[in-house]
Amino acid sequence: MKKEFKYAYIQKQIIPSAYAVIPIQSKAVQYGLGVFTGIRGNWNPKTKNLYIFRLEDHYKRLVDASNITGLKFDYSYPEFKKIITNLIKKNRAKEDIYIRVTIYSASTQLTPRFENDDDDMAIYMISLQDYFNTNEGLNVGISSWRRIDDDMISTKAKITGGYSNSALAKTEALKNGYDEAIFLNRDGKVCEATGANIFGIKNGIIFTPPLSSNNLDGITRRSMIEIFKKEMRLEVREEEIDRSALYTFDELFLTGTAAKIAWIKAVDRRIIGNDKEGKITQKIRLFFSEITLGNIKKYQKWITKIY
Ligand SMILES: Cc1ncc(COP(=O)(O)O)c(C=O)c1O
Repeated sequence: MKKEFKYAYIQKQIIPSAYAVIPIQSKAVQYGLGVFTGIRGNWNPKTKNLYIFRLEDHYKRLVDASNITGLKFDYSYPEFKKIITNLIKKNRAKEDIYIRVTIYSASTQLTPRFENDDDDMAIYMISLQDYFNTNEGLNVGISSWRRIDDDMISTKAKITGGYSNSALAKTEALKNGYDEAIFLNRDGKVCEATGANIFGIKNGIIFTPPLSSNNLDGITRRSMIEIFKKEMRLEVREEEIDRSALYTFDELFLTGTAAKIAWIKAVDRRIIGNDKEGKITQKIRLFFSEITLGNIKKYQKWITKIY
């Protein structure tokens, strides 16, 4: 399923992926000093074109991440877009893809600090259909690992080293027979999954944890909020969610670039709603899929056409 494409981008060049490597001494390897984003390209078989979803928003989140950490990212948006487009074309991608962009510390000096001179951007691509098997719905469990607080490691930048927190929770969840973990934050409130945001629906009202809950400002999350409000005319409440409230939602789902919109069947073995994908979840999932395929004119503002 996860075919890696032949070419990658590193040190300002497109080269064969096999040669796109970094030294073991680098701070990226030793201390996890890097920030990344994952971007989707969706292949539309009807129009025979590839559509990148919200590329400029991914760029802006990387700029923010650079400001937060001190990792150098001095590309303009047109330059960034050109590099991504050139890499996709070089790989002749004509399928659903996932593009991983990482700004990393290439420095091999010993001190664990940001603001080194030799920061670099590396990009690779894989073929990616669904990250979660969503036919059945997800069985999720509340993690015994709490989400990192934003004043420990920024949760607004996707910091590579910070994903150890996700890895601990995901490993525990899989060992316990779940598909995915849900983090609570230090205050005991619902935060997010290991690589996706969370939404609940109760009596037709949409709930999601606020950005102050140590979750990522997900681009899919933002898209959901806009579509729910403007398109479906539903009330959206960004407010703290208690653990026990999670068990009582009519519908629950995760959102993310890799995750897409994935419905949750059970939390801690308690069935959510009527054990099926909820109606509102299904409606937004289908509509969102059309948007990402470039089929909805009004939302072409979110799309970058490749060919
Ligand atoms: C921790 C975390 N939360 C949420 C998300 C979803 O964010 P986005 O919709 O921008 O992909 C991701 C995935 O990138 C993530 O890693």
